[in-house]
Amino acid sequence: MGRQLLKAATYAAIATSLILAGCTEQVKPKAETTPPAANAPPATPTPKKVPDVVYVPTPQVVVDKMLEMAKVGKNDVLYDLGSGDGRIVITAAEKFGTRGTGIEIDPKLVKQATANAEKAKVSDRVQFLEQDLFQTDISSATVVTLYLLPELNLRLRPTLLRTLKPGTRIVSHDFDMGIWKPDRIERVKGPRREHIVSLWVVPEKVPPELLNVDAEIQQLRQLRTPTPQPTGN
Ligand SMILES: C[S@@+](CC[C@H](N)C(=O)[O-])C[C@H]1O[C@@H](n2cnc3c(N)ncnc32)[C@H](O)[C@@H]1O
Repeated sequence: MGRQLLKAATYAAIATSLILAGCTEQVKPKAETTPPAANAPPATPTPKKVPDVVYVPTPQVVVDKMLEMAKVGKNDVLYDLGSGDGRIVITAAEKFGTRGTGIEIDPKLVKQATANAEKAKVSDRVQFLEQDLFQTDISSATVVTLYLLPELNLRLRPTLLRTLKPGTRIVSHDFDMGIWKPDRIERVKGPRREHIVSLWVVPEKVPPELLNVDAEIQQLRQLRTPTPQPTGN
């Protein structure tokens, strides 16, 4: 229980820094100089669904480690779920010639990632789709990258294990997959803090207990929301 609490505290600290960083990294919309026409589309398109996690980019040194650990190559099909400015997918295409898809809920970031891919001259190998990562068919992936949150990783776990082919590599920045233990963990020194990168390989035979995440999600929520404890008097 002590280790669980320590892990919860560490995750809470990273998640808080992720949220705080997101608050400072959000691009402020420019002030309108002329009022938009009544029937014009909104100047700044907004996500169709509230994002499940704010945008915080993975530092480049961590991106490089994620791709190295996944042994990404030319014949891989990479999906980054929640792709932000597209750096993971674009780096894989630039360095290794990998084909990749970024799934992103925020249309501003999809536009930015698409422009970044053009600038990097990899538009023939990558695409960015404005989509909910929980509603996306990722069965063609051979590598999946994640920088989400502990609960989102858990919610994704059954889908990853059910739909991905055995041998598919999954790499997560900072957060784990609960009782599904990683095949490899590395620590990377970033510009502001140390980052954790974990790698899983989808097994041929999936242990059934990995497919049910309800109890782990409940436990995670309980650790986050302390309830009053009996004092004994
Ligand atoms: C922490 S950022 C990571 C960005 C990028 N993968 C990286 O590592 O640099 C998480 C991203 O997930 C996106 N996101 C949040 N909820 C989502 C959802 N349901 N479907 C798709 N993208 C989502 C956010 O807009 C944000 O860009």
